[in-house]
Amino acid sequence: PLARTSELLADAASRGCGLPAFNVITLEHAEAIAAGAELAGTPAVLQLSQNAVAFHGGRVLPIARACAELAAACRVPLSLHLDHVEEFDLLREAPAAGFSSAMYDASALPPAENVKATAEAAAWAHRHGLHLEAELGRVGGKDGEPPLSAHAPGARTDPAEAAGYVADTGVDALAVAVGSSHAMTTRTAELDLDLIRRLAAAVPVPLVLHGSSGVPDEALAAAVAAGMVKVNIGTALNLAFTAAVRRHLAQDPAVTDPRRYLTPARAGAAETVAHLARVVSGG
Ligand code: G3H
Ligand code: ZN
Repeated sequence: PLARTSELLADAASRGCGLPAFNVITLEHAEAIAAGAELAGTPAVLQLSQNAVAFHGGRVLPIARACAELAAACRVPLSLHLDHVEEFDLLREAPAAGFSSAMYDASALPPAENVKATAEAAAWAHRHGLHLEAELGRVGGKDGEPPLSAHAPGARTDPAEAAGYVADTGVDALAVAVGSSHAMTTRTAELDLDLIRRLAAAVPVPLVLHGSSGVPDEALAAAVAAGMVKVNIGTALNLAFTAAVRRHLAQDPAVTDPRRYLTPARAGAAETVAHLARVVSGG
């Protein structure tokens, strides 16, 4: 069934589990996520980033509606989340498109501007029934960003600042920089588990790990045990998906029908989803 992200987060947090959130680019991603979550028997979030919406020509409705239909038909609860929104105009489209939550990403702005813009976004979101996530600290590795090491001094989120930021902005969930970085294709990120514990103790809202594809299984489980709740995963699905496409094209270079290579691609992504959903939810 289609669930609300806030309910799934509250349920996961109360059981000491993580809530996996997977990035949708194409319809096949969404189908893979629904199938993988069913295989694992765990709730999950279908999340669509502003970049993915741009890929669909800036039109959020067709892919969002497809996600909502898949969620409604799924045997486990799935919610819809609009991810890494930088344009306020896109945030305004979220409620009508079926999203129950969004991430407003002002992390590239200087701190004072980040607080002001995020507080406005949170106030708007709450008036329209949306749960709002924001980011403090720079996870790094996002499209078009100058490379930033997750281990660079100052890249980490400070617990006292994080508590102040949540109080000043009124956000419902907080993405924090604890050693992961976006778009990693090797699972070599080293998380600062002690920092996660200190953030979890200082911050009254669920913590969100971005760039989780680069984090090994054991560290993902340890991050959840340390207090991380929402775990965002994108690149890992694309690795599985594209590897399967490559394998098919190599063995069948004359292929024309996309279903020939999209079928194994979707199945490969679904297996990755099922595995990571089990790791994150402690199953
Ligand atoms: O918001 C999305 C995530 O942070 C995904 O990051 O593609 O590195 O797993 P990833
Ligand atoms: Zn992210």
